[in-house]
Amino acid sequence: MSKQVLITGALGQLGSALHSQLATKFDLILTDLNGNADKNILKLDITNPSELDTFFSRYAPEIVINLAAFTDVDRCEQQPDLAEDVNYNSIKFLAQYCSCRFIQISTDYVFDGGNGPYSEDDKTSPINIYGKTKLAAEKFIAQNFKDWCILRTNVLFDYQEGTKASFIKWVIDSLKNGQKLNVVDDQFNNPTWTNDFAEIIELVIERDVKGLYHYGGADYLNRYDFALMIADVFDLDHKLIIPIKTTELNQLAKRPLKGGLKTDKIEQTLNIKSNKLSDSLLEIKSRKN
Ligand SMILES: NC(=O)c1ccc[n+]([C@@H]2O[C@H](COP(=O)([O-])OP(=O)(O)OC[C@H]3O[C@@H](n4cnc5c(N)ncnc54)[C@H](OP(=O)(O)O)[C@@H]3O)[C@@H](O)[C@H]2O)c1
Repeated sequence: MSKQVLITGALGQLGSALHSQLATKFDLILTDLNGNADKNILKLDITNPSELDTFFSRYAPEIVINLAAFTDVDRCEQQPDLAEDVNYNSIKFLAQYCSCRFIQISTDYVFDGGNGPYSEDDKTSPINIYGKTKLAAEKFIAQNFKDWCILRTNVLFDYQEGTKASFIKWVIDSLKNGQKLNVVDDQFNNPTWTNDFAEIIELVIERDVKGLYHYGGADYLNRYDFALMIADVFDLDHKLIIPIKTTELNQLAKRPLKGGLKTDKIEQTLNIKSNKLSDSLLEIKSRKN
């Protein structure tokens, strides 16, 4: 019989890709904050001890993949208590129920963005509430779970109709509607297609990889150049994309500028190569058509 795997935050951007990737290989239990009966997703608020109690009295997953998070970085500044509850305190609750394997998805926002891309050995120093709460979770997991893997990634992207927040969908839809786009040219990362990352998560499970790893796409570039590449691949008018600076956006949360993740450790461990951004975009385009 296939292993029972719990995915939290399954309705999110990564959740949807991971669901497709793992569906035929594992006995998946999909959950999210609000649940969705049509998609077979159960309601499980990971900050609610009584919901967790009820859930774990019914299910005993062998692997938990925790995608659930409060990911809106500006709202995290406005609601720091909620950010701490969802991104950090929930992990303490989960620890009471999960003696099984625990896979946590984390972020390059644990770094300050002074000197990216970063390796697993680099010093963490988050500059916003989101990064601080995600780092607190990482530390708790490393100290309290027996069988754990923390996978940091950055700038996840995909084009899906139902996706709540997606850079590529925003760029494509705006350009198609002839709308100008202001895109920052001073934030650097290595964007990561959700499907590529879902494949990595599957390998991490299959090969029982433990510890802290970084995964991201092969290209390190700023957000403006990413938008230009999207326009190029999807044959859209790149003249509508205007470069601006992060400071012009007056956002509540500070953004790490030179972020991103070095992927040598996971590439060596899994004997893989990160995918090129243009290849991932072309694949998305071919699936869309
Ligand atoms: N997106 C990125 O670029 C990125 C980069 C690096 C790391 N990550 C990490 O990757 C993971 C997945 O990210 P994503 O992009 O898929 O995020 P997402 O689209 O925001 O999905 C997160 C999901 O978690 C749900 N959630 C929020 N609070 C919850 C709670 N208390 N209990 C259960 N579920 C809850 C959200 O529901 P609601 O939408 O209803 O609140 C949402 O469906 C997260 O851990 C994130 O920190 C993401």
